Amino acid sequence: MSGALLEVRGLSVVFDGFRALDGVDLTVEQGELRFLIGPNGAGKTTLVDVITGLTRPASGSVRFEGADLVGRKEHEIVRSGVGRTFQTSVVFEELTVVENLDLAASFRRPLWSLARRRRGVSEAVAAAMETTGLDLLADRPAGVLSHGQRQWLEIGMLIAQRPRLLLLDEPVAGMSAEERLRTGELLTEIARDHTVVVIEHDMDFLRRYASQVTVLHEGKVLVEGSVDQVRADPRVQEVYLGRAEERSTGAAAATAGEVK
Ligand SMILES: Nc1ncnc2c1ncn2[C@@H]1O[C@H](COP(=O)(O)OP(=O)(O)OP(=O)(O)O)[C@@H](O)[C@H]1O
Ligand SMILES: [Mg+2]
Repeated sequence: MSGALLEVRGLSVVFDGFRALDGVDLTVEQGELRFLIGPNGAGKTTLVDVITGLTRPASGSVRFEGADLVGRKEHEIVRSGVGRTFQTSVVFEELTVVENLDLAASFRRPLWSLARRRRGVSEAVAAAMETTGLDLLADRPAGVLSHGQRQWLEIGMLIAQRPRLLLLDEPVAGMSAEERLRTGELLTEIARDHTVVVIEHDMDFLRRYASQVTVLHEGKVLVEGSVDQVRADPRVQEVYLGRAEERSTGAAAATAGEVK
C-alpha cells in the first residue's frame, strides 16, 4: 500500500452498453487540493458517484486509506470519512442553517450522543459555521439563503461530518464573481486540514486556486499536471477547441481559451 489517501485503479462504468468511465486511474495524496475538469459528459460526476457508492463500476477498484470502497453502501462510505456535494442542492429549506449543520453532523455521531441533550451547538457545527462564515446566518431558514450561501451551507454540512476526503461537484456554478472569490478562499482554507477534490468548469477560477489538475475526456484521464501544463497541452486544447468549433465555426478561435 502506498501513502495515497485515494487510489482509483482501472475504473470502468457502463450504462446500457455506454462506457461512461473507461479504465480511469487517479491517485490523490493526503492534503491535496485536486481539480478535476473536462467537457460535459466526460464522466466527472460518474467518477464521484462511484467513489461514494452511488454507482457500481463494471470493473476496477477504489481504495480509500487502503480499503476498497467498491461494493460498500453510501452511508458506510460517508462513515469511513468520504463526503461529497451534489450538482444540485440538498439542504432542508425549512430548517435553519444551524439545524441543517447539526443534522449533517449527527449523521456520524453515535446514537448515545444523539439521545443526550446537548447545550448549544457541537464543536463540529461551530467549526463548520466559522469556516464557512455562516455564523451570522445561523438562525435563518436555509430556504431564504442566496445561491452562494446555500453552497457554503452544503460545504459546511460536509465539514460538520468531519470527512478526511471531500468531493465537491461544481461548487461555484451559478455564483457571482464575489461569491466565487469567497468560495476560492474557503476551499483554500478547507484544504489546509482536509484532502479535497473539486470538479470545476471555470478556467479563471482554476488559474487562481488550483495546483494539480486532472482532465477527464470521454471517460478517460486525458492529462494530469499543473494548471499551466494542462492548459498548454495540445490534447486539452484540441478537446476544447473541437467543442468550440462545434458550437460556432466562426468564433472557435475566440473561445479556444475557454478550457473548462
Ligand atoms: N445513470 C445514468 N444512466 C445512463 N447514462 C448516464 C448516467 N449517468 C451518466 N450517464 C452518462 O455518462 C456520461 C458521463 O456523465 P457525467 O454526468 O459523469 O459527466 P460530467 O463530466 O459530470 O458532465 P457535466 O460537466 O455535464 O456535469 C454522460 O454521457 C452521461 O449522459
Ligand atoms: Mg457532472
